[in-house]
Amino acid sequence: VIADTKTGSIVSSTCLIPQKFSYEEGSVFGAGLPELVGTHPDCRRRGLVGEQFEALHRWSEERGHLMQAIGGIPYYCRRFGYEMAVYMGKGRRSYANDIPAKPSHATEGDSAPRSHTLRPASPNDVRFLADLHQEVSRRLR
Ligand SMILES: CC(C)(COP(=O)(O)OP(=O)(O)OC[C@H]1O[C@@H](n2cnc3c(N)ncnc32)[C@H](O)[C@@H]1OP(=O)(O)O)[C@@H](O)C(=O)NCCC(=O)NCCS
Repeated sequence: VIADTKTGSIVSSTCLIPQKFSYEEGSVFGAGLPELVGTHPDCRRRGLVGEQFEALHRWSEERGHLMQAIGGIPYYCRRFGYEMAVYMGKGRRSYANDIPAKPSHATEGDSAPRSHTLRPASPNDVRFLADLHQEVSRRLR
């Protein structure tokens, strides 16, 4: 944190969260996540975050982290050496209409049962989902 020397009030703060990342199967390494970055509105644009990031990056290196990652404001974080890596909170969207309702040979108005159903994943699906994830990740190496 950075505190006002006269009042003792905290005017800017951040923190470093140590995490384990895995890149490929079996390749696990330490990484540091700067988080909760904030400066009091009256004290912004004085480079206070930059000073704290210098300390965080040093601590992260001292802890043997191979990289730092941040889920922050892309343009702002570039100032501290970060580059866009992966989108966060993205996923695949499927529409109910894309789920085959009937066998492909069915005609309009056919009362044939649905050929596929949509349901929430259950613990029984974990093995299948994990295998699928491994298979897809392999293509990205
Ligand atoms: C973003 C924030 C932490 C910057 O704090 P700060 O102490 O002013 O940071 P610095 O002095 O190191 O840098 C300020 C610079 O960043 C720029 N900046 C601030 N917010 C920005 C944003 N959203 N996008 C792009 N640039 C931004 C300022 O324009 C300023 O640039 P300049 O001095 O060249 O004009 C502060 O505005 C804040 O607390 N915002 C609300 C919380 C937040 O968004 N936190 C970030 C989460 S990653």
